[in-house]
Amino acid sequence: MAPLAAQRHAANGSYYHLSQVALVGHACEGMACFAARKDNPQCWDQAHARMPPVFCLGQCYQAPAVFGNDVKPNVAAFARQHVLLGNLLKGGARRLETYVENGGGIALRHAIAMPHTDLISVIAASGLRGRGGAGFPTGRKWATVAAAGASRKYVVANADEGDPGAFSDRLLMEDDPFLLIEAMLVAAIAVGAEHGYIYLRKEYPGALASLRMALQEAYQAGWLGPSVLDTSHRFELELVIGQGSYVCGEETAMLNSIEGKRPEVRVRPPQITEHGLFSAPTLVNNVETLCAVPWIVTHGAQAYAELGTPASRGTKLVSLNSLFRRPGLYEVEFGTPLRQIVEQVGGGMKRGRLLGIMVGGPLAGLVPPALLDTPFAYEEMQSIGCAVGHGGMIAFADDTSISELLAEVFRFGALESCGKCTPCHLGSPELAAMWQAVLNGQRISRQRWHALVDALAESSLCGHGRGLAEFARAIERHYPQEVARCFA
Ligand SMILES: Cc1cc2nc3c(=O)[nH]c(=O)nc-3n(C[C@H](O)[C@H](O)[C@H](O)COP(=O)(O)O)c2cc1C
Ligand code: SF4
Repeated sequence: MAPLAAQRHAANGSYYHLSQVALVGHACEGMACFAARKDNPQCWDQAHARMPPVFCLGQCYQAPAVFGNDVKPNVAAFARQHVLLGNLLKGGARRLETYVENGGGIALRHAIAMPHTDLISVIAASGLRGRGGAGFPTGRKWATVAAAGASRKYVVANADEGDPGAFSDRLLMEDDPFLLIEAMLVAAIAVGAEHGYIYLRKEYPGALASLRMALQEAYQAGWLGPSVLDTSHRFELELVIGQGSYVCGEETAMLNSIEGKRPEVRVRPPQITEHGLFSAPTLVNNVETLCAVPWIVTHGAQAYAELGTPASRGTKLVSLNSLFRRPGLYEVEFGTPLRQIVEQVGGGMKRGRLLGIMVGGPLAGLVPPALLDTPFAYEEMQSIGCAVGHGGMIAFADDTSISELLAEVFRFGALESCGKCTPCHLGSPELAAMWQAVLNGQRISRQRWHALVDALAESSLCGHGRGLAEFARAIERHYPQEVARCFA
């Protein structure tokens, strides 16, 4: 394999990894494919050797994955209400007619009939929190954008789904595209926006085809356009396709990307709710966050708030990788113990002994087997140094060592750094090199490791650098002996 510096240079040649790349035949080197690499070493070696890297095709349930294989995963719900997977469980709703037959459109009609302040109150009272990773209260975000005094505002759906291990947004967009469109219409009415974008990752051609067709149908049916369902509401919705960059999932980098600028993270303040896309107040929500909105508006805030826990209301999609006996996409209520997800939903390990579960991608931690009784909910996951993230759950078996995992996570971190701040730009490649050295039989300096991790934690501009530090700290907290034996 080429050294990291050369890989990094090749990957950043045009900033984006995939702008000039046809993905057909590309093998994936996301974390779930890394976890499953021994199931098909040839495929993994091919992925690892090839530049530019493709970090997640969203097929973690059949890893190691290759672009073009669109076999669908298991889909099931383990929640009292099917907030998100209702249509998928009926075989999908790719046509507007099917969507409406299944009850779609009620939320939009409610939203049109309600004062926008009441609509925002419903979302706030439901307790919905952002599913993109940070868990920010959605109603509060909507209220801020609604209150911003500007004639032009935007609603943007973050469909970049960069967290390796998660494929929930992909499935929602492929099989229930009108759910996202209806949710964005409701959001636009609530905040007073007439324009919206869906920022979709290039690695999801199935979602692209589905959304393209759905947008066309929605315009033809008068859901979108200058007069939404013959009312005074206008909403124009466009698709923007990413070109392969993990950091473009970070909302300010994403807005720069939509504007055609170099997609680096922006310094805040100003917050994007006041000064976002093209300097206008902008609401950015994750696809899954938005997809909960039609159910909440249709069934009421109280019905949603009864699901989950007092601080983490509602349901969450979890994506289980190929090392589970039953990999797939599942809807669970917040508060479900991880053990139940691992053993009952996922059916336990397909092979090997469990090393740990990477929940929410490589910027969170690795939950060790001893902590599987932790409830899957925001604060509870934080209390063990981990996170809900976007709900990707990658089981690692004991055929992966902690040093191998650290080397791989920092390699990913280095290749995906946007380069704006030094601890991440230079620190993550050095950390990757340190753990590669461990794999080559060397020992590393404990002081240097801590200095680099502390710098990442304290002076990174965005959650990429900070998340890498959180990952490092969680690993050292939960696997102290495995880390300590690598120090000189
Ligand atoms: C490095 C990085 C990558 C991110 N990638 C995504 C992503 O792929 N999808 C997403 O919805 N949010 C992602 N986020 C979070 C977004 O910045 C933002 O918080 C989110 O889209 C807001 O929507 P929500 O409130 O509905 O969660 C990422 C954040 C960081 C720091
Ligand atoms: S932490 Fe990394 S990805 Fe985030 S702004 Fe800094 S260099 Fe860019």
